[in-house]
Amino acid sequence: MMRAAGSEARGRERVSQPVEGRWGGNARRAGVPVLLAGLALGIGLLAAGCAADQPDIFRARGSAGEEIRQLAVQIFIILSVVLITVWALLAYVIVRYRKRPESEASETRGNLKIEIVWTLIPAAIIVVLFILTVRTTQNLALPDPGAQFTVVGHQWWWEFDFADEGFATANEVHVAARRQVSADVVSTDVIHSFWVPQMGGKVDMIPGHVNKVAFVPLKEGRYLGECSEFCGAQHGKMRFLFVVDSPAEFSDWVRAQQQPAAAPASPEARAGAAVIATVGCGGCHAVRGTSLKGTFGPDLTHFGSRGGIGAWSLTNTPENLLTWLEDPQAVKPECLMPRVALPPDQQKQLVAYLEELQ
Ligand code: CUA
Repeated sequence: MMRAAGSEARGRERVSQPVEGRWGGNARRAGVPVLLAGLALGIGLLAAGCAADQPDIFRARGSAGEEIRQLAVQIFIILSVVLITVWALLAYVIVRYRKRPESEASETRGNLKIEIVWTLIPAAIIVVLFILTVRTTQNLALPDPGAQFTVVGHQWWWEFDFADEGFATANEVHVAARRQVSADVVSTDVIHSFWVPQMGGKVDMIPGHVNKVAFVPLKEGRYLGECSEFCGAQHGKMRFLFVVDSPAEFSDWVRAQQQPAAAPASPEARAGAAVIATVGCGGCHAVRGTSLKGTFGPDLTHFGSRGGIGAWSLTNTPENLLTWLEDPQAVKPECLMPRVALPPDQQKQLVAYLEELQ
């Protein structure tokens, strides 16, 4: 009972921790130009079928994100100067050469000087934008020391496979701050896109093809990750938590993830262990150290330590887990998780067991 109470307390603590990004971000400190640029980008994101709520790319916390933020600001400033100059010239011309009763419009053509000037100025602007962009692209290219883990896109959840360390997890991944993250990204079904807005740019996840993602997380925190390529009905509920730990915390996390599932402590969870072994969850899910060895769905070995259910369709609380198990299709229509039809007492035991998987 002590253990169950402890894990519940940890659960609350976890949920109440601030998450950078959509679940608790703070864009109020951003200046007006940044907000305007954000608005323009937000409209672009909406048009692309992504979330209505914009992730905050202007508070970059990763090396790639910072490079991209700087480029976005530089381009915004240059284009603002162009816009203001054109508007000012337009206003001047409208006033200076407005129609007067006594004047006739004269036709001017073939002014070579003007033709050269208005060709050279835009060409120079494009050259500057080109140089800035190429420089950013070069800065984004980091050495490839080999992938530390593989991100696998599924409809609609994320698998993080740490093959060298011997574990896999789902919808939540930890990395060490100020150390380069290098990962392979792939997909098992359709094209998804890996994106942690505060870390860096999007990387497509293409079936049958391995793409690379590399950046240095600069600051500890909990960040929103999401799929940024439309991938089916639940594209919008394909999110994950990207946690940047201190190097020592990260080592602890890896060690904890490597452990097989702890034996259930409370009587209810023990009963739940018997339920899960017989009800067929093992056809899709694995719980290392038990008879559940499925690989089709998320690995549940440390399910209770994660903050979300169904790729963050719900936060991970016992009540929400019960809702999810009773009817996943109501929470996330068309997802591949079937409803777990069990008597209410067994549902509760299953929930107790899963939440104890810390
Ligand atoms: Cu996966 Cu959109």
